[in-house]
Amino acid sequence: MKQENCKRCRGGRFAVGRGPEENWGAALADPKKLFIKTYGCQMNVYDSERMAEAMGGSGYVTTDVAADADMILLNTCHIREKAAEKVYSELGRLKELKITKPDLKIGVAGCVAQAEGAEIMRRQPAVDLVVGPQSYHRLPAMEARVRAGENPLETDFPEEDKFDHLAERPKAGRGPTAFLTVQEGCDKFCAFCVVPYTRGAEVSRPADRILREARDLVERGVREITLLGQNVNAYHGHDAGLAGLIGELARIDGLARIRYTTSHPNDMDDALIAAHGSCDKLMPYLHLPVQSGSDKILRAMNRKHTAESYLRLIDRIRAARPDILLSGDFIVGFPGETEEDFEATMGLVRAVNYGQAYSFKYSSRPGTPAAERAQVDEAEKTDRLGRLQALLSKQQYAAQDAMVGREVDVLFEKPGRFRNQMVGKSGYLHAVHVTDSGAGAGDIRRVRILQSVKNSLAGEVLA
Ligand code: 5AD
Ligand code: SF4
Repeated sequence: MKQENCKRCRGGRFAVGRGPEENWGAALADPKKLFIKTYGCQMNVYDSERMAEAMGGSGYVTTDVAADADMILLNTCHIREKAAEKVYSELGRLKELKITKPDLKIGVAGCVAQAEGAEIMRRQPAVDLVVGPQSYHRLPAMEARVRAGENPLETDFPEEDKFDHLAERPKAGRGPTAFLTVQEGCDKFCAFCVVPYTRGAEVSRPADRILREARDLVERGVREITLLGQNVNAYHGHDAGLAGLIGELARIDGLARIRYTTSHPNDMDDALIAAHGSCDKLMPYLHLPVQSGSDKILRAMNRKHTAESYLRLIDRIRAARPDILLSGDFIVGFPGETEEDFEATMGLVRAVNYGQAYSFKYSSRPGTPAAERAQVDEAEKTDRLGRLQALLSKQQYAAQDAMVGREVDVLFEKPGRFRNQMVGKSGYLHAVHVTDSGAGAGDIRRVRILQSVKNSLAGEVLA
């Protein structure tokens, strides 16, 4: 499977690539091949894995080579216009492939599928099926319908829960880190965002199912789990919320690290803040988007918090876990944003001092309230984004440079580009590489950081 190199999802660092030899499913003499290209957020990465598993039951194995595939699925993102348009240019290329390979089947999944539905097939008739993010458990049946000459489209929010209908996850070994979706959808309705429309209302998976899936992942070699949700800290599938779920996950032997993303400031409750101080397995990294530092714009965005309340929240989180590395999302050029509003965002960034951040120009999305409002000039947006990104990069590199000389635990994930090199992540989510260490994938070792290089740290293993 391939993942589009997307900044929002940390440049494909979490990409899942699985060769045919690691596949599961019907042991056919000549299995059909499935190529999945994943765009956008980590939840799409997780969904693509589950789609591949579901199609395993129909005799498909995954391939990393699109030209070899019998079926190509694009698991798409609708968050900004650019992300959605990329899908149509990719479909244009795939149409050409279909000319040389007429049996090739093409499917569109994910949030573009949900938002645009039948319009996709109208714009690109080469598409054989369209499936929304809540319906992909129906993919095997849809594939059978395609083979019978139909063009199925499933974009309802079905009554049944897809997780109850997906095949059991396979038992094959896998890498040391994994995503696990615990919550989907969003009831917040930020004025710029399509998620409440594409992913639907907030739904939490029951804690016992999540714990079972986590134990299975650990048995397969996973040492770090990132809990996913569009509003993960609104999780209510456990009596004690996300903190309660994290507490139970922390009791799983062999699971060394827990992370969660993405959070809304208004759902950071006392128990979750306290967990950052008391739960050793909860990593000292928190992605907590604020979007803007101007109260006027936050109101217009329907964020239901102020810049000041966000700053006080950060104080409380840092009181619980002083070394926590903070990350955020920012939008510049939201309708009505003046230079003064933008300066308020710069002021907030200076006050927080982020270790990591993602920033975007506002992109008007059809059907969202802000799309109807007077838009900020494009050149102004570009200028503001440049200034914000310069400040955020400075903070990011300062946070990385401050690691030099420190000792951190690193979970090693895979060999690096150079001979005898291994790469992994610190608790702060910094990429760390070492050479001639003897460390293997899945090992957690104490490492002294020697040097800060462009997007990673060089270190030496101590023990
Ligand atoms: N335009 C620009 N950025 C957006 N985001 C969400 N919707 C839009 C939009 N219409 C950003 C927000 C969010 C992140 C996932 O994407 O910052 O936190
Ligand atoms: Fe979108 Fe997040 Fe706002 Fe929900 S909370 S509407 S997912 S930006």
